[in-house]
Amino acid sequence: MKSRLQKGIFISFEGIEGTGKTTQAKFLSERLMDKGYDVFLTQEPGGTGIGNKIREILLLPEHREMSHVTELLLYNADRSQHLTEKILPALNAGKIVITDRFADSTIVYQGYGRGIDLSLIMSLDNIATGGIKPQFTILFDLDVETGLMRNKGVNKVDRLELEDIEFHRKVRDGYLKIAKMEPERVKIVDASKPSEYVRDAVWKIVNSRFQL
Ligand code: TMP
Repeated sequence: MKSRLQKGIFISFEGIEGTGKTTQAKFLSERLMDKGYDVFLTQEPGGTGIGNKIREILLLPEHREMSHVTELLLYNADRSQHLTEKILPALNAGKIVITDRFADSTIVYQGYGRGIDLSLIMSLDNIATGGIKPQFTILFDLDVETGLMRNKGVNKVDRLELEDIEFHRKVRDGYLKIAKMEPERVKIVDASKPSEYVRDAVWKIVNSRFQL
C-alpha cells in the first residue's frame, strides 16, 4: 500500500437496502462542492474499473451458488483496489472522500448476516485496508420492511437483496451494534423521515463534526 499519510477527510455512508444513502451521498457532496471543497464521491462494491467487474460478479442474481467465503474475499478484493487506486490518493491530495459503503458493510452483511466469524472478517480487513477506516460514518437507519419495499419500488434487485427478511434484520442489528460500540465515529440518522429532513440532518452532523 502507498503512503498512509492522510490529509483529507474520510467519510462513509452505511445502511441496509433502500435507505436513500446513495441520494444523500450525492446531496452532501454537492453541498460541500458548492462551498468550494474538493470532494471525491465513490462507492463499494465498485469505484474502480476492476471493482466494477467484481461488483457485477457479486451482485448478479444468477450467481446463487457463490460460497460465503468467495463473497467475503471478493468484497475485500474490491476494497483493497478501491483504497489503493482511488481513496488513498484522494485523501493524500487533501480531498473529502465520501464513500457509499465501506468495511462496516462487510462486518454486517458477511459477519452478522452470513454468520462468518468476526475475527476472520477483521483479519481480512486488516489485509485489505491495513487498518485504515473512515474518520466518520453516517448510518442511515430504517426498518427492514420499509427498506426492501422502497427498493422493490425502483425495481432494484441484486443477489443480496434476494436474501430473506431475517438476513436483513441481522444486518440492521449488526449496524446498530457497531454504532453502539463506536459512538464517536458512527452517527445514526433516521432514514424513515422525508429526504429533505434527512439531508438537513446529515449536514448538521457533518458540520458539527468538521466545522465546514
Ligand atoms: P449497494 O446496493 O449499496 O450498491 O450495495 C450492493 C450490495 O452489496 C448490498 O446488498 C450490500 C452488499 N455488500 C456486502 O454484502 N458487503 C460489503 O462489504 C459491501 C460493500 C456491500
